[in-house]
Amino acid sequence: MRIENPQIASALPEMGVELHSGVALATLTSLRIGGTTDLLLVRDHKHLPQLIRLLDGHGVPHRLLGGGSNLLVQDGELPWVCLQLAAPGEGVRLEGNKAYVDCAADLGHTVTFCAKRDLGGMEGLIGVPGTVGGALRMNAGAYGMQIGAYVREIDVYREATRSIETLRGAEIRFEYRHTSFAPGDIMLAVRLELISKPYAEILQGIRICNEKRRSSQPLNQRSAGCIFKNPPGLSTGRMIDGLGLKGFRVGDAMVSDRHANFFINTGRATCADMLALMAEVRERVRAAHGVELEEEVIVWNDERKGHM
Ligand code: EPU
Repeated sequence: MRIENPQIASALPEMGVELHSGVALATLTSLRIGGTTDLLLVRDHKHLPQLIRLLDGHGVPHRLLGGGSNLLVQDGELPWVCLQLAAPGEGVRLEGNKAYVDCAADLGHTVTFCAKRDLGGMEGLIGVPGTVGGALRMNAGAYGMQIGAYVREIDVYREATRSIETLRGAEIRFEYRHTSFAPGDIMLAVRLELISKPYAEILQGIRICNEKRRSSQPLNQRSAGCIFKNPPGLSTGRMIDGLGLKGFRVGDAMVSDRHANFFINTGRATCADMLALMAEVRERVRAAHGVELEEEVIVWNDERKGHM
């Protein structure tokens, strides 16, 4: 979708918003899949309510793009514009064992920054790509920890009130790869309470997680991490693997031969290829195990019900 209305275009600079026309989301997602739209880069969080009011007032549909690492986007001209929060400089400020983090900051950078200053707890998240905001929305986790456990306070643009609110961690439900945030809520800044421990000790934990991840996940290929959630008590990767589906493909979308819950874009996979591969794998797991797999990846596809 293109922003053609001059009233919108002329109001953007005073809100510190940059308009990037015709951006291919394939260049901004880890799957390297996704069509084209206008991207609005928001440099100052405080203008977000005003920007959203402006877009809504002119009937321009919009979605918030985070780090693009857990996202499958439809192809072609997209029917909404994307908002993205500009990456901050350092993005982290420390006070004792509290870290104040800009949600557009890179998650890995944040974990390392805190570790070097003797603040740990989030070692498991070291190899998880994406922004802090994306990790909060999904309650990203790995190796026995989840980011939600460290949240003390969060500034969020709330869809319901159309304003920026500060919530206490306890007011938010952080569940397995799911939170109580509304789809239109936008994470802006978070205060994390971390664990004081020496860098050397944290580094040891980071190295162990990195090693585990390297040995079991296809890190240098185009994926969105795990494509399905693990059903309670079960491992999706093990079930798909057990059905002999590693290397199974639809077009250029393929079940990784390293970890069967990672689906790879081996070249020019389309969103339709990836969705067809997901549907086929889901069907086979249902037939063999009687289990309905739930997506872990966020799908932006208007042709399908149940999208976010
Ligand atoms: N397994 C197989 N074949 C495979 C993949 C896995 O047999 O192809 C087996 C493994 O040998 C192991 C079990 O399945 O016995 C579980 O595998 P793994 O330890 O790799 O963990 P996972 O349950 O597949 C989860 C998260 C990952 C996270 C890791 C490490 C989900 C859906 N996945 O994977 O998160 O990195 O644990 O904690 O919760 C993500 O969120 O995108 C993600 C990749």
